[in-house]
Amino acid sequence: MPRSTKTPVPAKRAAAKAAARNTDSGPSQLSAALSDAASNKMAQVQDMVAAMPDNPTKPLEHGFANGLKPPQGAGVPPASRLPTGSTLSEENRSTKTGSAAAEGVNATIDTLDRVRVDAGGRVLTTNQGVPVADNQNSLKYGVRGPALLEDFILREKLTHFDHERIPERIVHARGSGAHGFFESYEALPDITRAAPFQAAGKVTPVFVRFSTVQGERGSKDTARDVRGFAVKFYTDEGNWDLVGNNMPVFFIQDAMKFPDLVHAVKPEPHHQMPQAASAHDTFWDFVSLMPESTHMLMWVMSDRAIPRSFATMQGFGVHTFRMVNAAGESVFVKFHWTPKAGTHSLVWDEAVKISGADPDFHRRDLWERIEAGHYPEYELGLQVFTEEQAEQFSFDILDATKIVPEELVPVRPVGRMVLNRNPDNFFAETEQVAFCTAHIVPGLDFSNDPLLAGRIHSYVDTQISRLGGPNFHEIPINAPVAQVHNNQRDGMHRQAIHRGRVSYEPNSLSGGCPFQAGAVQGFVSVPARIEAREEQGKVRAKPEKFADHYTQARLFFESQTPVEQDHIANAFRFELSKVTVPAIRERTVAMLRNASEVLAKKVATGLGIDPLPDPLPRALADPAPPEVTKSPALSLLARPGDGSLKGRKVALLVAPGVHGASLSTVQEAVVAQGAVARLVGTRIGRMPTADGDALDADASLENEPGFLFDALVLPDGDEGVAALAQDGHTMEFIKDQFRHCKTILALGASHRLLAQAGLPLSMDKSHALGTTGLLFADAGAAAAAAAEFIAGVARHRHFGREMDPPLL
Ligand code: HEM
Repeated sequence: MPRSTKTPVPAKRAAAKAAARNTDSGPSQLSAALSDAASNKMAQVQDMVAAMPDNPTKPLEHGFANGLKPPQGAGVPPASRLPTGSTLSEENRSTKTGSAAAEGVNATIDTLDRVRVDAGGRVLTTNQGVPVADNQNSLKYGVRGPALLEDFILREKLTHFDHERIPERIVHARGSGAHGFFESYEALPDITRAAPFQAAGKVTPVFVRFSTVQGERGSKDTARDVRGFAVKFYTDEGNWDLVGNNMPVFFIQDAMKFPDLVHAVKPEPHHQMPQAASAHDTFWDFVSLMPESTHMLMWVMSDRAIPRSFATMQGFGVHTFRMVNAAGESVFVKFHWTPKAGTHSLVWDEAVKISGADPDFHRRDLWERIEAGHYPEYELGLQVFTEEQAEQFSFDILDATKIVPEELVPVRPVGRMVLNRNPDNFFAETEQVAFCTAHIVPGLDFSNDPLLAGRIHSYVDTQISRLGGPNFHEIPINAPVAQVHNNQRDGMHRQAIHRGRVSYEPNSLSGGCPFQAGAVQGFVSVPARIEAREEQGKVRAKPEKFADHYTQARLFFESQTPVEQDHIANAFRFELSKVTVPAIRERTVAMLRNASEVLAKKVATGLGIDPLPDPLPRALADPAPPEVTKSPALSLLARPGDGSLKGRKVALLVAPGVHGASLSTVQEAVVAQGAVARLVGTRIGRMPTADGDALDADASLENEPGFLFDALVLPDGDEGVAALAQDGHTMEFIKDQFRHCKTILALGASHRLLAQAGLPLSMDKSHALGTTGLLFADAGAAAAAAAEFIAGVARHRHFGREMDPPLL
């Protein structure tokens, strides 16, 4: 309840009774019962308002010290519910109106059950609930006659259909979402009072949306791109959206450049090509003129930009944020999500092929993992540091093109997130969800990062047009679980029905409610700001350290394993080979020379650029020496995960006449590890096996090609192997598995298939799993081979056999 300023003094009955009729909206003729209610109401209103003769918190609105601790709002408890209601008739209930609003309740925030719909056992109706007798024919004048305008059923159906689409997101249009929960490992009272971290084991519901950035809503999942990693925490104290990416840095340092970046990377405006790809002139023209993008380019050209699945990629808050404890003390914080399944990516050739065979590759993987009960899980880690520490760093923590190396500030695990429920309806949930960096809760705050500042504005602004007005916070997926009470009213598609006549604050006519929460309960901004090192005053400029564009780009490149470095060089080569203007290619190589001579040379060689162009002039000739020159944590291979096969897909090739028992032994072993094991046949359907049984192929070589699988098992059985050898798809299947460095187990006679596919290795057992990922076993030893195979699949790839260019 609001703080009571005075005890209400009962008003004189007669005056109140007169006043009850003394308005234009007062009832003209009253029954005895209503007369009592109206005058009672008026008397209580008078008492309540009189008890608040002034606004007692007004003086506390002034001065810096008061600003730090805003008081709770003033109010007077009403004597009953009468004086705050909209109407005397609110208790007259019906099956539609229900009864009066329960005190202090906003029913629009109830669980999603309130809007779930199931049509089991129900007849088809119009949107007005009218049963539809015939859903096959429009209304006509005679069976061959003209259609009639009065056909409200047809018109309602077509009109709704005509408006089914809404604008797609301007960026991150392509995405997939899931529900789940966040569970805190421990209370963090020293760091933050934010609701999710209040106690060990505290569970907060979440909704997560993963996305690509460049492509349109229907574009391929496996584009080379940054992935959005946006988490909505439905906390007890309001929604907190951690709207991050799967890379911890960004291309630009100031929101002013975001529209330029997006215009450059999107399909070129004259012909709308290429879709969901950065390999084109305008992107590289822009970034090569923006050397602060070099660090991010390293990440985007690395395998991080082609993740194997959403369940195997990290997430980062990118910007520096603040956490604030109950005493108002704040620290800086960086957010990290680390997948339990490890960080695993595709290789480029594979990503390109997948985009044709299954543009929904990541969406399908997320959906299937959750349906199978292999719930994606991520650990939340914090890098916490003080303002004083930040002052000493060689880089600026307000610069979104910089990381804080883990060697400098370790990542502290604070909780886990589990995604355990698929949405019921893609549009209602995943498409209509609205994340926003401005959505923070008490215990959190922003830093002065100028990129973040622009984001705080941009999301709600764009959502007003994407979601059709200012009330999208009431769309069920966006509604918080915390109570929502304010004086915002009206606008398109308003759902809430507010009781009472007050929509302003301060007020006495509603007993002061909803009243200002005050500093103890409400959100208060942290007053502390990094001490200005320079002159204060309005200015459009960047801090000095923002000018170091290359030190951390070098750190990233030099922290990668040789395989990853090769992939980065190859990605630059590929992207720049698609650029049609040689001067843009050369400018990019000139930029890379400032980060890594080795990389620049490799890229230049791949593009036929000789001699190397001069390095680009540096904005900062003499950057501060970095604290860390190598950070192994930046390598994808540093996080192999829990070694589980959950969610991996294994293909077992079948044809009539394969040896069934040995194949089934491997299949069962793989399935027991949580992997999906698909029998991929020369056709789908049942096939006899050499050992007198039958197998059911659930996919075909044609409809599920090899690059869709994480590993391959080839069967024994002469007849079956001969049938597979006749089919060119088998050879492509094997070649792709080999080229993409996946684990291959050849049982018995199938080693012939490897030879026929032209694998550049002698087909004997001298190739240990560790170097080649190739395994050979007799059918009789299938159980032991399965164990070895599983160990190989858990390693994800066997880069020891990678070749550039590939020999097959
Ligand atoms: C000034 C810079 C930026 C601006 C102006 C901006 C603006 C936007 C806009 C307008 C959207 C579409 C929102 C919607 O329609 O619902 C969006 C989506 C998104 N942005 Fe940004 N963005 C910026 C930088 C970033 C950065 C640095 C990150 C990563 C840390 C990021 C992550 C995301 C994500 C994950 C989404 C998709 C959210 C979802 O799944 O619905 N953005 N951004």
